[in-house]
Amino acid sequence: MTGEAAATDWKAEEGRWLLPGYPQFPFTLARGEGAWVFDTEGRRYLDLYAGHAVALLGHCPPAVVAALRRQAGELLFYSTLACIPVRARAAKALVELCGEVGSRVFFCNSGAEANENAMRVARRTTGRRTIVATEGSFHGRTAGALAATGIPHYREGVAGLGTDVVFVPFGDLAAAEAALGPDAAGFLLEPVQSLAGALPPPPGYLEGLSALCRKAGAMLIFDEVQTGLGRVGAPSAAQAYGVRPDLQTFAKGLGSGVPCAATLAGPRAAAAVRTGDLGSTFGGGPLACAAIEATLGEIVRTRVWENAARLERRIRETFRMPGVLAVQGKGLLLGLVLDRPAKPVQKALIGRSILTGTAEDPRVLRLLPPLIIGDAEVELLRAALSEILGGKPA
Ligand SMILES: Cc1ncc(COP(=O)(O)O)c(C=O)c1O
Repeated sequence: MTGEAAATDWKAEEGRWLLPGYPQFPFTLARGEGAWVFDTEGRRYLDLYAGHAVALLGHCPPAVVAALRRQAGELLFYSTLACIPVRARAAKALVELCGEVGSRVFFCNSGAEANENAMRVARRTTGRRTIVATEGSFHGRTAGALAATGIPHYREGVAGLGTDVVFVPFGDLAAAEAALGPDAAGFLLEPVQSLAGALPPPPGYLEGLSALCRKAGAMLIFDEVQTGLGRVGAPSAAQAYGVRPDLQTFAKGLGSGVPCAATLAGPRAAAAVRTGDLGSTFGGGPLACAAIEATLGEIVRTRVWENAARLERRIRETFRMPGVLAVQGKGLLLGLVLDRPAKPVQKALIGRSILTGTAEDPRVLRLLPPLIIGDAEVELLRAALSEILGGKPA
């Protein structure tokens, strides 16, 4: 070794101290700003995966960072045992953006937990047990959320999952009707199936489900962990498709990266919840609520969902190129259906400093960018993709 100390190999350090989680990108991150992240070598990447669909407003949105700094100096934590003004303000903001008159919020910590609580409320409200869920769905890794996840390999080898879940094909109203029997507490689905490949609902499907649930006395539950808060070109998928679910769940971008989530109960479900039914030590903590209030404030101030809708149109118009068979999804939850496996294309894009995602469908390259990107960022992707796909197959 010369005079300088050797740089720490942080990937090796992670491997030494952490259990493996997701397969990782080939770099080590130092910081993020807007739609860009910067690695420890100083190289920057256009993050069209938004830190796992979380950075809705980009990385480190200044209004959220300022709110966090303020809140951290005032009160870092107290549970819902104590009333805290910022919690009421955060809940009001979520109801006003995504709910209806009489809606109420339960704050928790992750998408899986929000779905667990939505199913809990549906079961308590109806006094029934069965949840109908869709094949191809992903709802999280806790036991209840996983039991309702319709991608079998996630459930494999995990004993003790609930058996009171029935799966039906996504988009099939006849199958839904048959499954919504007298013991059906709720129908849980992602209005646009993300991990499956950004699959939108067939026309009339969500409206049909809403009618079927009403007839069966079951609750319609939208998992809006990915579709919510502007991503699909409206404040929620419920609004984008003009359907009123009984329960909605939000997470991912709700706190711009501060871990938090919410179960939003419509009037009927809300009326059934009693003190003590729901609880969480950290859910609704002041730091999370400060992040939520600031995030929702920015979403409303900038009407960022309109940018998502506009860029969807632009991508659909400009991504007609050899190698791209179709663009599917809604808003900025999009899947580019390729004529070849998506993983090598994703890797080639990383080589050109652009981050994207893949999906269960191996030919789908998934885009979940921050909603604040503009035409220039879309053009960077288009140009890189056209080079990669136009060359010899990746
Ligand atoms: C649609 C959907 N629901 C639920 C979850 C689970 O969220 P979390 O990882 O925060 O538990 C995810 C995570 O990717 C998701 O995409």
